[in-house]
Amino acid sequence: MLKSDSNKTVGVDHQNELPIGVFDSGVGGLTVLRALQHHLPNERYLYLGDTARLPYGTKSADTIVRYSLQAASVLVRRGIKCLVIACNTASATALEALRERYPALPIIGVVQPGAQAGCEASATGRIAVVATEGTVRGGAYQYAIAAIRPDARIEAMACPLFVSLAEEGWTSGPIVEAIAHRYLDTVFSAPQPPDTLLLGCTHFPVIRQALQKVVGPEVTIVDSAQTTAVALSSLLTSMGWLSKQEGQSRGVAVRFMATDGRERFARVAAYFLERSIPADSVELIDIALAEG
Ligand code: DGL
Repeated sequence: MLKSDSNKTVGVDHQNELPIGVFDSGVGGLTVLRALQHHLPNERYLYLGDTARLPYGTKSADTIVRYSLQAASVLVRRGIKCLVIACNTASATALEALRERYPALPIIGVVQPGAQAGCEASATGRIAVVATEGTVRGGAYQYAIAAIRPDARIEAMACPLFVSLAEEGWTSGPIVEAIAHRYLDTVFSAPQPPDTLLLGCTHFPVIRQALQKVVGPEVTIVDSAQTTAVALSSLLTSMGWLSKQEGQSRGVAVRFMATDGRERFARVAAYFLERSIPADSVELIDIALAEG
């Protein structure tokens, strides 16, 4: 099916066997890819990390939309059956623009599934969301949570330094904890603190243990990876679009693409995937020519 870069889509016979397109501003979206692979092990994946332009989280909304359209364009040109926006900032800012550009392509973002996970985890309805500046600014999580749970009391906090820590592979220790205290203490030492911390950024699951130490064991920490995978699995099942191939017959399970730094991509990816990938398995692409 969708092997076109515009609204005009082309029918192909092997639609079910096309890969699932996944993009993020960098390697953080690999936390989502891992969950997708766990829930949908027979699928093939095309993962694009826009490493040359990371972070998206500090950019203006217009720029995030333009970058997201270009990233999606690369994946759609290669042939994908659906698109997962594994970047919270892009999901929060560009989901509508992407759906407008590709009306026939099933597109899932991580914000709605993340909000769902947060609401399900919280007993009190007091939910803290940590994310990038761009995600917090747009209010996407606040709206999504309030729509599911109107009684929720939401504290959304921009924590951009967590992205740098995760990219550096500094996932635990005194420096990570000191920065987390600085961001989180005011909210979590309030008289009625949140009982749930929602990780609204792809990079944050790798510093989860340090965050748990800082907010205390009574706070439930959730992210959107699992709920996004479940949502995609139900969508593909209901459409009859699941791959019918199993195991080796489906070919290479994941193809990685990055817009800069194959070695760095492979090195940092190891923290997120908890396995190593060879740098030469990462294809370097030029995204500047893609349609924005
Ligand atoms: N992928 C981004 C997100 O989930 C974090 C990194 C960035 O700012 O680009 O919001």
